[in-house]
Amino acid sequence: MTIHKIIAVAALSIVTVAGAAHAADKLVVGFSQIGSESGWRAAETKVAKIEAGKRGIELKISDAQQKEENQIKAVRAFIAQGVDAIFIAPVVATGWEQVLKEARDAKVPVILLDRGIDVKDASLYLTVVRSDAVYEGEAAGDWLAKATSGKPCNVVELQGTVGASVAIDRKKGFEKAVAEHPSLKIIRTQSGDFTRAKGKEVMESFIKAENGGKNICAMYAHNDDMAIGAIQAIKEAGLKPGKDIMVVSIDGVPDIFKAMSEGDANVTVELTPNMAGPAFDALIALKKDGKAPPKWIKTETKLYQPDTAKAEYERRKELY
Ligand code: AHR
Repeated sequence: MTIHKIIAVAALSIVTVAGAAHAADKLVVGFSQIGSESGWRAAETKVAKIEAGKRGIELKISDAQQKEENQIKAVRAFIAQGVDAIFIAPVVATGWEQVLKEARDAKVPVILLDRGIDVKDASLYLTVVRSDAVYEGEAAGDWLAKATSGKPCNVVELQGTVGASVAIDRKKGFEKAVAEHPSLKIIRTQSGDFTRAKGKEVMESFIKAENGGKNICAMYAHNDDMAIGAIQAIKEAGLKPGKDIMVVSIDGVPDIFKAMSEGDANVTVELTPNMAGPAFDALIALKKDGKAPPKWIKTETKLYQPDTAKAEYERRKELY
């Protein structure tokens, strides 16, 4: 190991979740998590710990605080520790080749969670557990076109983190729906970085630029947290979210169901936070029977409207 690598390993703070001892028969998984930008992300981390516990797996979580360089350091640290597998929720899609080659050389399988990456050589990772994010954006757009009954509708879009596969795909999917429904028009689009604070800030600037919000028919956000920030901005501008400006977003976190039940939001497209469960199962099948998983383990997508919002809120607030 080089001095550089030793320093990187020592500098990383990695939290071990299930049991400190590394028994010979116990799988140890290192998880490079993006951070805690949204309610969905917090839920994914929580569910990963629960799913690890259910299977008796030791999970070491490293928080990258939204930085790819921290994720790369964490992966190197996990390799040095001799973990059985590495899970990565990649903050952005590019820049992964080198460190994934290092994992492959060390014979440590890598499973991607909730976001994809751009690599020429797909053998650099075992599988990816994620939704069809293009479909999520398309479902949101199709719903909006139907809900506005073909009447002209100016949409402002809050994008996720720049360079994240989910932001790219959710934009692509929504644009696909817009191309099929000419009544919808995206008049402004900007990143709100998947956070409530940024979602609110960007929405405020959209409202200011669009005649105090009067030119805006709907707001499409790549996640619920940005939508919740935007709802606040709409209220502060003296408008009624869900009515004066329709609110359409993705994730299915408890707070958006609360907003829907109060009439402040119109629809959410659910992304399950249980990415780790299917990843652990794929890893166990590989280790025990040598069975390789499909390259994409696709999670289910479901659209929710206000009619079930209250019940969904009650159900989810316990889970998250
Ligand atoms: O990659 C999944 C996305 O990342 C979620 O939709 C968003 O809330 C999170 O930050």
